[in-house]
This record gives sequence, C-alpha cells and structure tokens, in this order.
Amino acid sequence: MKPLPLRQTELDSLLQKIHLHVNSAPRRGQVATYIPALASVDANKFGLAVATLDGNVSSVGDAAEPFSIQSISKLFALVLACKTIGSDLWIRVDRMPSSNQFNSLIELEIESGKPRNPFVNAGALVVSDCLSSRFVQMESAVVHLIRELTGNPEINYDRAVAASEMAVAHRNMAAAYLMKSFSNFANPVDQVLKAYCAQCAIRSSCIDLARGALFLANRGVCPSTKKVVISPTQTHQVCSLMTSSGTYESSGETSFTIGLPVKSGVGGGLLGIIPGYGAICAWSPSLDQSGTSVAGLDALQQFVAETDCSVFL
Ligand code: DON
Repeated sequence: MKPLPLRQTELDSLLQKIHLHVNSAPRRGQVATYIPALASVDANKFGLAVATLDGNVSSVGDAAEPFSIQSISKLFALVLACKTIGSDLWIRVDRMPSSNQFNSLIELEIESGKPRNPFVNAGALVVSDCLSSRFVQMESAVVHLIRELTGNPEINYDRAVAASEMAVAHRNMAAAYLMKSFSNFANPVDQVLKAYCAQCAIRSSCIDLARGALFLANRGVCPSTKKVVISPTQTHQVCSLMTSSGTYESSGETSFTIGLPVKSGVGGGLLGIIPGYGAICAWSPSLDQSGTSVAGLDALQQFVAETDCSVFL
C-alpha cells in the first residue's frame, strides 16, 4: 500500500497494472441494450484516467475516447441545479438511498411523487424540470458547464443517441407523468424528456471527466481556473449523495468495496472523487444488475486498495 500522493511515474505504473489485471479477468456483465443506440458499443473497450489537483493526468487504454456518459450527466445537472436553484431543490427531491432499479416507479408512487434522490431517473427528471424552468435549453446549459469544467470546447451530445433513447423513453415518461399527477413537475413532459435524453447523450472521455470533476475534490473550486463552481457545503452534499446513491441500489455495496463518492452511467462510465487529491474515471461498457460498469468497479476498487485513498480512512 502506498499513501497518496504518488509520483507521476508511480501513478502511471499503477494504472498499467490495473489495466493488465482488468484485461486478464474474464469479462462479466452485459452492455446496455434498452437504449438501442448503445447496444452496438464494443464491450472490450476499457479506459482509465486519474486527474490530480496539481494538474497532472495519468491514463491507460481507451481513456481519451469519448463515450455516452448517460447518468454521469446527472451529476453535472445536479451541480448546475445547486448553483442556480440552491436549497429549494430539496423541496422537490429527497436525499435518501433507493432500493430499486434506477428507473423503478415503485417508491415514487408510494412516496407521493417525491423521488428518493437526484440520481434515480425520477429525481434526475425533476432536476431537468427545474433547470428547464431556468434555461431555454437546459441540455445546452449542462453541455456548457461540462465544457467549462473540462476545458474541452468540443464536448457535445450525440443526436442519434438522444433520439434513440427518446423513442423508447416510455418508463421515464411514466415517471414524469406520475410526478405531474402529484404536482411535482412544472413543464410539459415531452419537452423535459427531450432535454433529459439529450443531456444523457453527452459524449465525453475518461480524461475529460476526471479533469472536469476535480472541483468536487477541491471544496467546489476548479483547480485550473480557480473559479468557484459550488460552495464547500454543496460539494459535501453532492459527494454525500454520490456515496449513498451514485450507483443506485448497489451504493451500499459500492461504498463498502470502494469507499469513494462515485457516479455510474449505463454507457459504462464510472467517475470517482478522491477528496483533496483528484478524480478517477473508468470506462468499460459491460454492466452489472444495477447498471454499473463491472470492470469500472474492479478498476476503482484496485486503485483504492493500492493507494489507501478510501474516504473512510
Ligand atoms: O434514463 C435512462 O435510463 C438513461 N438515460 C440513463 C440511465 C443510467 O445511466 C443509469 N446509470 N447507470
């Protein structure tokens, strides 16, 4: 075990070791197929990047290749909602863990249309609804924030993936209408769903996402631009939600095995925050039951074990 910080060369060789380990393990899990445009992604892709607060980035494999970030976008949408709406957001969405799949409607009906947290689909839809009341095109506002945080002006959403999800978004639409029936949805469902699908279809790489999340390891301040993104209290709140709900119903298990605030996406991305040090992002499209990248979990678990960087130590 090596305590952080590591020298750049040590970090590079640790990532290479993890890459070898992941490549030699039997591939488990399934690529997401419920969004047709995601079904054709190469299951053998693997990328891993670590960005540190001192400006270094170390990466292996397909870490520079953009992929569909899907629910990782919910993290940036939440940050934008914290910035623009503030604590009023919590009138509309809770801060509780959930025990069903990310697109389940069970708890939503029982709990009168108030979603458990901003990361289950219903909660992210409420966030999109709130942002739609603030921005003409809330998906563009999320794209703009990610561009600013990563320093990559090329980042955008994939129109084909957005349209593909919109065509099968029956369950998310049902969640939105259910919330509307409980007066917890302000804008037209169709309009918000379109924006939400576009937001989820943003493409970005492990390197960009690790860089773009550094402010969450730095009390809300972007280390390269020194700009305040959110307050230290909001940073604490976002990281706390990532720990309790970042991988939905398996968040307890993820916290037990990894011990970092994380956010997953069905595109196979898994982004983790190492407070005071940096951010780590893995990408591998095969998913477990909760929609989390199997190799991504494996890679983050290895990294934490080798560096002792669990937030609970
Ligand atoms: O709404 C959906 O189902 C997708 N756009 C996002 C789901 C997702 O990424 C779940 N996370 N692992």
